[in-house]
Amino acid sequence: MAIDLPALPYSDTALDPHISERTISFHYGKHHAAYVNNLNGLIEGTDHADSSLEDIVRAAGPGGLFNNAAQVWNHTFYWNCMSPDGGGDPSGDLAAAIESSFGSVDAFKEQFKADSVGNFGSGWTWLVREGDGLAIVKTDDADTPLAHGQTALLTIDVWEHAYYLDYQNARPAYVDAFIEHLLNWEFVAANFAA
Ligand SMILES: [Fe+2]
Repeated sequence: MAIDLPALPYSDTALDPHISERTISFHYGKHHAAYVNNLNGLIEGTDHADSSLEDIVRAAGPGGLFNNAAQVWNHTFYWNCMSPDGGGDPSGDLAAAIESSFGSVDAFKEQFKADSVGNFGSGWTWLVREGDGLAIVKTDDADTPLAHGQTALLTIDVWEHAYYLDYQNARPAYVDAFIEHLLNWEFVAANFAA
């Protein structure tokens, strides 16, 4: 059973101008698709051929299988972390948890931005559930909270391929646009409530 490339949860022009159709065409249509194709080539005829994507990520040791499986999972999660109607602030229990862990929603946004801008090289910055609280964690390359027993609530892709066509080297402008215009708090709240 091959791993599928999930459809985007919006049209390929829906995030414009913050993330352009051109970026989507490469990031989703080339990078994400290539991870799916690579993964299917790696699991074909192996014990993982019928495994779920999550099980492959949890079971794989360091190397190509983990890198491709984790990147498939990370990217699908990332697309869902954005919405053409995103931005604004969280509400309800999620807002209360963020205030408890970070002091305020604005303080969370500041720390999430700083950790996204400061994540050296290629990687991801995440909001995760950790014990009874929430934490921001940074991962390198393909690494993912799923491999560390953490529950991911939110992520931003800070590989250059996520923003270079639209922002060139200005990662802070991409992170600002993500937080202010794209961040899908409803998806974060659903992950928090799960
Ligand atoms: Fe990416």
